[in-house]
Amino acid sequence: MQVIIVKKASEGAILGANIIKNEMLKKKNIVLGLATGRTPISLYEELARMHKEEGLDFSDVTSFNLDEYCNVDFEKEGSYHFFMNKHLFSKVNIKKENTNVPNANALDLEKECKAYEDKIKSKGGIDIQLLGIGQDGHIGFNEPSCSLSSRTRKEFLTLDTREANIDDYGSLDKMPISAVTMGIGTIMEAKKILLLAFGKSKRRAIKECVEGGVSSLWPASILQFHNDATIIVDEEAAADLYNINYYKQKYEENL
Ligand code: GLP
Repeated sequence: MQVIIVKKASEGAILGANIIKNEMLKKKNIVLGLATGRTPISLYEELARMHKEEGLDFSDVTSFNLDEYCNVDFEKEGSYHFFMNKHLFSKVNIKKENTNVPNANALDLEKECKAYEDKIKSKGGIDIQLLGIGQDGHIGFNEPSCSLSSRTRKEFLTLDTREANIDDYGSLDKMPISAVTMGIGTIMEAKKILLLAFGKSKRRAIKECVEGGVSSLWPASILQFHNDATIIVDEEAAADLYNINYYKQKYEENL
């Protein structure tokens, strides 16, 4: 696991966007795994800028999003379909038919989840998976105590997660109670992982994920078993890391 500590979130977003850009330049028909939440918004802004000003080409790119809430209107704010269109898909030349966000309103969710997994496989798997992290250490919507080999499925959200994401819905009673999420097993099959975490609310989750024991109570800790995972954190999110100086030194010497 490579840990990169940046001073500010804006620096982390630019660095993350450059990592994705470099992968896109190596493989034109790359398969991107995408994330939602507040954290990746500035990274998407940077990718959109790169498309507009530097001609970064998304025409052969395929994308798969991590998750989507159940029983929400995909055309409306609060859904991850809406989020992705707003922050990325409408700003770059990705083909609509090459973008995939789980259809969490499907009548037969089991079939839908299996089809999502099959589609990822048929495209050759995810080349680089972007991740945020919940305050409780979840990735996608894989909540604490989930199976560490889980696949795409319906998952019930914890109260913590529903409260953390309340902004999109205004009140708890309007917040969805479940979502469809790629599983931990699905995420771990991505060839490369890029996790971003900014701000002091992510301090504990980053500590447990990077330096804690691998445990389903902190789902992101499984990334310690991935052979190509990069974690970009700002100083606030990194503040509790025991080996903070070592990570800084290692990164600076490799620049
Ligand atoms: C949601 C998403 C996660 C995201 C998390 C953190 O739970 N399903 O993929 O990582 O929120 O969001 P934020 O970046 O807003 O803190």
